[in-house]
Amino acid sequence: MNRLILCLLFFAFVSTASAQFDANYDESKVPEFKLPDPLKMFNGKKIRNSKKWEKNRCPELLNFFTENVYGEVPGELAISSVQILEQSENALNGKAIRKQVDLVFKNHGKTLDFTVLIYLPKSVEKAPLFVGYNFYGNHTITEDVEVIISGSWARNNPSFGIINNQLTEQSRGVRTNRWCVDKIIDAGFGLATIYYGEVDPDKDDFSDGIHPLFYIDDQQQPAANEWGSIAAWSWGLSRAMDYFERDNAIDESKVVVFGHSRLGKTALWAGASDERFAGVISNEPGCGGAALSKRRFGETVWRINNSFPHWFCKNFRNYSKNEEALPVDQHELIALIAPRPVYIASAEEDRWSDPKGEFLGALYATPVFELYGKKGIEQTEMPGVNQPIQNTVAYHIRTGEHDVTEFDWEQYIKWAQKFIH
Ligand code: GCU
Repeated sequence: MNRLILCLLFFAFVSTASAQFDANYDESKVPEFKLPDPLKMFNGKKIRNSKKWEKNRCPELLNFFTENVYGEVPGELAISSVQILEQSENALNGKAIRKQVDLVFKNHGKTLDFTVLIYLPKSVEKAPLFVGYNFYGNHTITEDVEVIISGSWARNNPSFGIINNQLTEQSRGVRTNRWCVDKIIDAGFGLATIYYGEVDPDKDDFSDGIHPLFYIDDQQQPAANEWGSIAAWSWGLSRAMDYFERDNAIDESKVVVFGHSRLGKTALWAGASDERFAGVISNEPGCGGAALSKRRFGETVWRINNSFPHWFCKNFRNYSKNEEALPVDQHELIALIAPRPVYIASAEEDRWSDPKGEFLGALYATPVFELYGKKGIEQTEMPGVNQPIQNTVAYHIRTGEHDVTEFDWEQYIKWAQKFIH
């Protein structure tokens, strides 16, 4: 590696580490703030029932998040063709069906495709399903040698053998710890996953991924109210859902969208913006996910807009160092999923994501679930570590750091068995 690259990597590391170091982690320094009431319209009118919520408040909140946080998808685009790249009735030691399905999209003379890796339990005729993106390619979530390695751009990670932005055989199975495929299949659920970089490479560059398929004339980037990468990734999950609706082996009424961290933010937005998802699991989504922005604890709106300028729409920058001006907060994003079940999870050492802010996001979303007679978070104090609260709104904080663990999946499976009907 040449010196310049090493220097750049070093500075990127130091600046992320120092950002985390500079952040506020002192509860006594959390500013005073007034949280918007999800059951009060912007014009002050009170919402008293689920009908009024659906007719008036839900659309105005959804519209605000669309125009000012994640960005609007500039148009509709259906799957142009579905190609089954590979299929086996004898996967995972014979207990699962494996499919690798490529979804192709065409618009304005441009093409994009992404591959959905699907495992379905043979024991179930029409399987409920978890769907979520992975960070380093489908082949990283399992040791299964048949899983195709993506040719898309990937962030370098020498410890996974990723150099020159290309995924390789060396990274097969490096993320099995985050996926618990066997447990999922044994519980009677299917699992579908997509490499997020195939939908939009995770870098501040709008000339690649899905965005250019929607450009008009010589447009170079989305408008200020149009989609950043999180909305693009969410769009991809909705297109995967279009496919699930066509696949008879999948119960499309029981698809739970899952994601970790930036992809946990994505799962929340996918669930909020597409009602076909039966439930949402958001693992440690932090700022711009479930954590309340107005707390300014750990990562802040300014920091995230600076470090990852491509994740949100440009309009979100109006709230950098200006969270008090936000007429919404992230509890209202969670509320948009009501009455469908939603699970938020934190990790004790993941202070950058603000575990308390994530808990409060779930807590303050609760009144909207209650409009439907559903149970949300009923205690105002955070639960102890490793003591999940599992209602229609679920929450846990586990020991350990920013990651997805077996403990997390055990809780998600148990909860989904109870709440996804
Ligand atoms: C960074 C970023 C977070 C994000 C996380 C991740 O830490 O600041 O907002 O959630 O990456 O996706 O792992």
